[in-house]
Amino acid sequence: MMYTMEKLSHVTEESICKLVDAFYTKVRADEALAPIFERAIHDWQPHLDKMYAFWSSVMLTTGRYKGNPLIKHMVLPDIKPELFDRWLALFHQTCTELFDDDISAAFGVKAERIAESLKLGIFYRPDRPWPPQSAA
Ligand code: HEM
Repeated sequence: MMYTMEKLSHVTEESICKLVDAFYTKVRADEALAPIFERAIHDWQPHLDKMYAFWSSVMLTTGRYKGNPLIKHMVLPDIKPELFDRWLALFHQTCTELFDDDISAAFGVKAERIAESLKLGIFYRPDRPWPPQSAA
């Protein structure tokens, strides 16, 4: 008999907390992303609380999040376009570990759209090619 691990089959405030906690655990262990986060965030619980509210607003349309993510990301020292790929890869990985495929995909679509709009806001210049050429 084969047993499969039961995944979370609904988006709820509780499952969002699990996702956010698991995601930032990975972020904080990631060589490329950790330094940016650790420089900006000294007290993690308020950041996690904000991210529970953010994903609750996005996925459950609760309106719990109030803020301006673009400005917060624009002022981060060392923010780079290619870091968004890393962020999204970890986010997708966390979603698929915790949720059924359809819910993972729903989170993924939202995350990618928001990442794209943050990247445009941070890096877009009318006189330069888009997407930006990687420094590598
Ligand atoms: C390279 C990718 C990213 C990096 C390095 C990054 C880093 C950070 C950091 C350091 C903060 C804390 C800023 C502060 O409190 O001063 C933050 C806040 C936040 N991030 Fe990101 N982030 C990235 C991508 C994303 C994406 C793709 C999303 C959404 C899908 C997102 C959503 C948010 C939100 C909602 C906040 C809270 C803003 C507020 O204070 O109201 N981030 N991010």
